[in-house]
Amino acid sequence: MCGIIGYVGTEECAPILLEGLRRLEYRGYDSAGVAVHDGRELNVRRAAGKLTALGDVLARDPVHGTTGIGHTRWATHGKPAERNAHPHVSGDIAVVHNGIIENHVELKRSLKEQGREFHSDTDTEIVAHLVDLATQRGLDLFEAVRETLKVIRGAYAIAVLSRADSSRIVLAKNASPLVLGVGEGVMLAASDVPALLAHSRDVIFLEDGEMAEITRKGARIETVAGVAVERAAVRITWSLMQAERGGYKHFMLKEVHEQPRALEDTLRGRVLLEDGLLEPGEMGIGVDDAKAIKRVVFLACGTSFHAALHGRYLLEALARVPAVAELASEFRYRDPVVGEGDLVIAVSQSGETADTLAAAKEAKERGARILAVVNVQGSAIARMAHGTLYTHAGPEIGVASTKCFTAQLAALTMLAIHLGRSRGTLGAEKARALLGEFVQIPHKMRTALEGAKHVESVARSILHTRDALFLGRGLSSAIALEGALKLKEISYVHAEGYAGGEMKHGPLALVDRDMPVVCLLPSDSTLEKMLSNVQEVRARDGNVIAIVDDESVAKDLATYTIKVPATVEALTPLLTIVPLQLLSYYVADLRGTDVDQPRNLAKTVTVE
Ligand code: G6P
Repeated sequence: MCGIIGYVGTEECAPILLEGLRRLEYRGYDSAGVAVHDGRELNVRRAAGKLTALGDVLARDPVHGTTGIGHTRWATHGKPAERNAHPHVSGDIAVVHNGIIENHVELKRSLKEQGREFHSDTDTEIVAHLVDLATQRGLDLFEAVRETLKVIRGAYAIAVLSRADSSRIVLAKNASPLVLGVGEGVMLAASDVPALLAHSRDVIFLEDGEMAEITRKGARIETVAGVAVERAAVRITWSLMQAERGGYKHFMLKEVHEQPRALEDTLRGRVLLEDGLLEPGEMGIGVDDAKAIKRVVFLACGTSFHAALHGRYLLEALARVPAVAELASEFRYRDPVVGEGDLVIAVSQSGETADTLAAAKEAKERGARILAVVNVQGSAIARMAHGTLYTHAGPEIGVASTKCFTAQLAALTMLAIHLGRSRGTLGAEKARALLGEFVQIPHKMRTALEGAKHVESVARSILHTRDALFLGRGLSSAIALEGALKLKEISYVHAEGYAGGEMKHGPLALVDRDMPVVCLLPSDSTLEKMLSNVQEVRARDGNVIAIVDDESVAKDLATYTIKVPATVEALTPLLTIVPLQLLSYYVADLRGTDVDQPRNLAKTVTVE
């Protein structure tokens, strides 16, 4: 999500900034811009769309200078348009930003009261105003940024350039990445290493809560609290290709590991921990609207359909509203009964899937209210919906969806809590307890990811299998489907996901000692029933791989046990899916398939 580049040196920097941004393209973006200091003035050029559009603008209207900042923007607040592209300028100050300023609403209000005019819909512009105000009060740029950081809340990496000083760029980081590149008489900063490698292989990673100032001579780093930081540069030995994947072998593996961050970004600033309500603004579903809902219909395809199954289950449980989940491709050709009183939730990471879009349009024409749960701002489904709940997973490159899926689970869980609170079916205390546990999930997910080596060894043991079964009950049944889908998508192993209770109605006939059966066994209300199903598998010599939060549960039943941290029932899918994603990844990688671009599949399916 968004790319930042900064350069202070001796060469014309516009082409260097553009090339750096090109190296950050993989992060996804929908507009771009640069600000270059020509020794007297700051010159800003921006364009909606791809970097070629910015290149065209620069060719028509060049900028000159040896200090500059650049940005690729992946829209979160405000449409992907030139006016929302970074850098944002206020007075003498130009800012680029990656992340989300949580308290932007109140800050914007107060800045407007002070007579400040806004020229974009972004949260970023606030930073430019705040730094400008602080410098007007006489603070040096570094101190002005420090003052600003004390006021803003949220995730950010920022780079700030001032008309008053062409010799330096001030940077700060909290939760979004920022790395400095050290060269001979030149310093750079960027969101990721690939953007630096053409100029420097010696880099300094900034940590959360730190700020820096770069000049041609070097860097000065301090914590926001004012403690000086001495950190030696590290030498990067990765190839450029490796660097773009953050050192991971594949984008999918990188994205699996990015899930804790994606969850944090999806939750950030959204949930009002005290009362369990979501900010209704973007969704357009206030308390009265929630009470008026008669039925919820989820529409989705592929992995998003599995998230929809999760949403259906939780909405019924917490908001006591009848809910169904439908495959979009089936729904639209069925003359469906849908209309007023129905809330139709279209779930889609891309927001462009043709079947989901057409099904949602059909429902809209028949009078239903449409809520989009999508990851891409301004995408077709977001545009046609009455309201949108964005997942903030950042761009996903691997065709097989991973971090977008868990961000969808998180968004739908938040929605279920919001609707439960609004409809009076979920008590304040229960909501608070659930939310209190919810904010622990990113941390627990990191613990689950630490088990990757063990999962790899389990993958090795089933490497040559032709088939696999995945079983789960309750909320875990959707995870069983998703685990099977992941395995077949990228490793080409035939896999089926089943609700545990259905086992004896067919799939049991397939079980023998050669059949890996992945069983989801978190300590929840269906555990005992699931254990009976596992007994049935064991009685036929099935090779049980148990996903548990308590190792004693499957001790005598499982060939392999994979443990994840325990949590409350509603949130277990966010943790149990992690080893299943890793299992399919390692089976695929060990089999030598094209993990990020599996044969015959596409990331965004815009055909029926
Ligand atoms: C494709 C992708 C899947 C995705 C599905 C639905 O098949 O390969 O990963 O789950 O489309 O896409 P959506 O963008 O609507 O979530």
